Parts: sequence; C-alpha cells; structure tokens
Amino acid sequence: MFKRTHNCGELRITDIGETVNLNGWVNTVRLHGQVVFVDLRDRYGKTQIVFNADSFHGDFEVVKKLSMEDVLSVKGKVRERSESAVNPNLKTGEIEVVISDHLMLNEASPLPFVIHDRESAEEDLRLKYRYLELRMDVLQHNILTRHKTYQATRSFLSDHDFVEVETPVLMKSTPEGARDYLVPSRIHQGQFYALPQSPQIYKQILMISGYDRYFQIVKCFRDEDLRADRQPEFTQIDIEMSFVDEEDVFTNMENMTRYIFKTVNDVDLPDPFPRLTYQEAMEIYGSDKPDLRYEMQLLDLKKYTDISDFNAFRSVERVKGIVVKGGAKYSRKIIDELTEFVKKYKAKGLAWMKVQQDGFEGGISKFFSADLQDSLQNELGLKENDILFMIGDDSSIVLNALGQLRSKIAKMEDLANKDEFKPVWVTEFPMFDHDDEMGRFVAMHHPFTAPREEDVELLDSDPSKALSRGYDLTMNGYEIAGGSIRIHAPKIQEKVFSLLGLSHDEAVEKFGFLVEALTYGAPPHGGIAFGFDRLVMLLAGTENIRDVIAFPKTTSATSLMDQSPSSVSQLQLKELGITINDPED
Ligand code: AMO
Repeated sequence: MFKRTHNCGELRITDIGETVNLNGWVNTVRLHGQVVFVDLRDRYGKTQIVFNADSFHGDFEVVKKLSMEDVLSVKGKVRERSESAVNPNLKTGEIEVVISDHLMLNEASPLPFVIHDRESAEEDLRLKYRYLELRMDVLQHNILTRHKTYQATRSFLSDHDFVEVETPVLMKSTPEGARDYLVPSRIHQGQFYALPQSPQIYKQILMISGYDRYFQIVKCFRDEDLRADRQPEFTQIDIEMSFVDEEDVFTNMENMTRYIFKTVNDVDLPDPFPRLTYQEAMEIYGSDKPDLRYEMQLLDLKKYTDISDFNAFRSVERVKGIVVKGGAKYSRKIIDELTEFVKKYKAKGLAWMKVQQDGFEGGISKFFSADLQDSLQNELGLKENDILFMIGDDSSIVLNALGQLRSKIAKMEDLANKDEFKPVWVTEFPMFDHDDEMGRFVAMHHPFTAPREEDVELLDSDPSKALSRGYDLTMNGYEIAGGSIRIHAPKIQEKVFSLLGLSHDEAVEKFGFLVEALTYGAPPHGGIAFGFDRLVMLLAGTENIRDVIAFPKTTSATSLMDQSPSSVSQLQLKELGITINDPED
C-alpha cells in the first residue's frame, strides 16, 4: 500500500505538480479508450484520478476492469483540469491526479445496489447490507452530525459543571412505563434483570448522593410499538440537577439546545423558547407536541353550529375546526380520504364547507344561513377558496383528531419550512391519565414527577385534576425531551404510588430503595432527558430515526444485518433454566 499523503477531499489547485498517494474506494469508472477516469472516494470526499495508457507504469488491462467499490491505493501527480472539465460541485473539482502506479487492495463483489443512489434499493435490502449503505453520502453526513452532537453536548455540559456518570445496564425490572426487555440470570435461575427504560431512579439517587449535576449519553431500551421516530434501543441525553426549580432547568436546557444547534448546524434558536401549557397546546394545536412552523390553529365552532340547522353537532360536547387556505381545490376523493383518516382517531366523520365567491358551498353548508355564513367568514377570517373542516364529539376526540388532521394537511401542502426550527416548552401536564381498562390511574410522565405545590391536596380530593411539574421540550412536531421536578418528600411519593395502584408492600418491593433513600436527606431536584436520536434527526433533516443510527432495528425490532433476535442453543437455555414452549401449543 502507498501510505496516503492526502485524503480524497483534500487536494486543491495549490497542490498542482505534487506527487501524492491516495487510498480509497472506486466510486465511479468512466472508460475513454486509452484513458480511464475514476472518482476515488473516502470519508472526506472524492478525487478524480486518471489512468493514461501512455504514462501508466502498471498493467492497463487491469485498470480497464476496475469496478465500483474496489479498494485502491494509487500514486500520481496532481494537475489542473482543463476548463471544461472543472467540476464546481466537488471540493477537489479543479484538479485531477494522473496515476503512475496503482495497487488493488481489495476487489469488491458485484453490489446489491448502487452506492451513490439511495433510491436504487428498498430499505430492507439496504439494512441487510448496512455496511454498504453507511458508505453513502447522506448516511456519512448523518453519522458525522451525530458525532458533532455528542461532542457539543459533552462540551457544554462539562463546561457547566455537569458530571458524566455511567449507570447499570442490568437493573431491576420496574412496573409502569413501557414493557421491559428482560435478561435471564444464569446464577440466579428464574430471576431476571431488566434493561433500563431510562436511568431515572439512578439519577435521582445520584442527587441524593450529592453529585448536584449529572449527565449521561445513554442507551435506553423499551419494548413498545415502533414508529418512524421510535426505536427499541435509543439514546438519551439524561440530565438531573439539585436545588432547582423549573426555571433553572429551562434556562440550562435552552442554553444547551441553542449551543448544540449553533455548533452543529450554525442555526440560531430563539431566546427564550416560547411556552404553552398542555391545555393551550391541545386546544390550539390538538397536540402536546405542536409544530409551530405553520398556523392552522384549531377554532372553536360550537357557538356557530349550535345556531345552525346542522343537528348532529347539537348534542356533542365540542365542535372545533381548521381552515385550510386554498383548500377549496380538494376533490371529493381527497375529502373522503381525509374523512377515513380522522376516523382512525375515533372521529365519527369530517364535516366541511368550501368558501366560494357567493358564500359557502358543499358539505354541510346548506345548514348555515346566509347571516351565519357571514359571521363565520368575518369572525374567523375565512377567504374565498378556503375550506373549513369540522369535527364534533367529546373534547379529547375532537382535539386529537383535528390535531392529527392539521399535521396531515401540513404534510400534503408542504407547509413546514425544513430550514426552520421552532422549539416550544409544554408545561402543566395532568399528573395522571385514567386507564379505563386497568380501572386505575397511570402516571402521565412517571411516578416520580412532583405535583404542583398548589395541587398537592388534589391528590386526596380529586387526583384527576392535579397538574404536575412535568415539562416536555418539543420542536417541529417532535417531543425532543421530557422531564420534571421530582418528588423529594417520601410521604408524597408513597401517596403517588398508592394512586398508581401500588400497595405499600409492592412499592417497597419495587422502589423501596428509592423511598428509603428519600428519607436520608434528599435535596429538591429535577431533570430531563433528551431523545438524542430525535435531536439528531432534526439536525440532519430527516424524518426517519433509522437514518441517524448506525445500526438500527426495523419497525418489527429486528436487525436485518446481523439477524437478531435469533434462537440460542439448548445448552444456553439449559444453563438459564429456560424451556421454550412450542408456539403451536
Ligand atoms: P421520556 O420517557 O419522556 O422520559 O423519554 C425522554 C425522551 O426520549 C425520547 N424517546 C425515544 N426516542 C426514540 N425511541 C423511543 N422509543 C423513545 N422513547 C422516548 C423522546 C423523549 O422525550 N426518565 C424520563 C426523563 C426525566 O424525567 O428526566 C424519561 O425517560 O424524545
């Protein structure tokens, strides 16, 4: 191998005349009779190299057989490209290297897909050959963005007194939250470790141990249904701070987020970040992670529909709607598709009216008198060619279905500017959701989240009304972080466990060490965890979480490259004391 003097993205016009050694992969080959042009590629870029039968010392027939992804080591002289051959899209586009000697370091087998064309293969095939897909520009860019994000995060946090501490990956299985991934113990047959869904308990314990400010960039594991922004193993920037309230957490985390966006993408985020309460977010955007890059707010329409002749909305709790600018162009077919879409979110239907020159048309417009149409148009600012979509139902269905419709239409109409980043804090979440199936409360955030001070009494009188000191940081429709000020009083912690249906004994069995630790001088504390992969998705400009993870899992939690999960030997199972039931039984 000729030891490289330069990488493939480095040579410039100032290097003309130099003899250089390059190593890399054959990106493309073009044969022009006695001259062969190759783009040689490595992580840093591409350089055009030229094999000229006249000046080349080796076997030219070998050169003619070069194929994509062969690994080469070459020696040659840098020369200026002719004016017509200059490639302004390439950093090295003004020069080329005329090769005198070459060594084939490794021949590549015929490729399952073309490396410089991501669209040339389905995702499953690319995931099977992930090592090839990772050679692609987009993925190299994403992985480098991820690397810069780690470095920016660590440097900011370390500079602000946060201490990086690793917490166990084999821990005790805890109730609540998603399903655990379990690891059987060989030494203690019949017993299991769980992989952490997050290091929540450990980081609180670290506060009790006096570390004051903790962070960790940490893998978390959750056996839950996967989506475009979820993976079974994902990464968090996990943070905890002592002697703080919400404002301290917000200030520090805004500063960190601004620092990351500036350092990684040279983007200036607002200062301060706007805030919405959970209730405001749901009422105005129908989502607790609203995308603020476009308007289309949810409008209250009940006062109008109640005096219309459209009786179906009389008896419902809420009627809300959204106006789509220029949406009068929607065909019956599109409206039918949108109706089917909202039905997935339990809406019974989707009412609509188009605004035309002479008033409203189509849908349920005939139930609205001319006067009522006028006041709707004036008070809601409806313009000609708009469409008004309406849903009437119970509040939660109306808000969620319209929120989903709002995002769906924004996608259809391409309303979100991809270069814009709109962070917003969402605060004052309810402490609990009621799970009707289980017949009990479940924690909306997690069982360690403190209630607002003014709501502590509600834990006894009406827990469903109690609001928490939890918060989410959202951006462009993603929940990028979630956290809370924690309970540090053992009595309140026990009360919350009991509301979650955990008896005293169960709570002690599952979380006893934390409850006990809280009695040994726990400082008031709070924290947050960022979905690191989601942060990188935003920075890298992709909507697919798999695009920012080197070796991701599919939506059915498998790894197509290394074929996991897989069965294990009888001996391994025997050592663990595990027998597998025949799936037919
Ligand atoms: P939470 O469960 O909200 O909070 O998780 C924090 C953040 O992690 C990201 N996230 C995920 N990313 C990818 N795939 C997943 N399956 C996934 N699940 C969650 C989200 C989310 O905002 N211990 C608490 C934090 C705290 O209270 O400090 C926790 O884990 O971006």
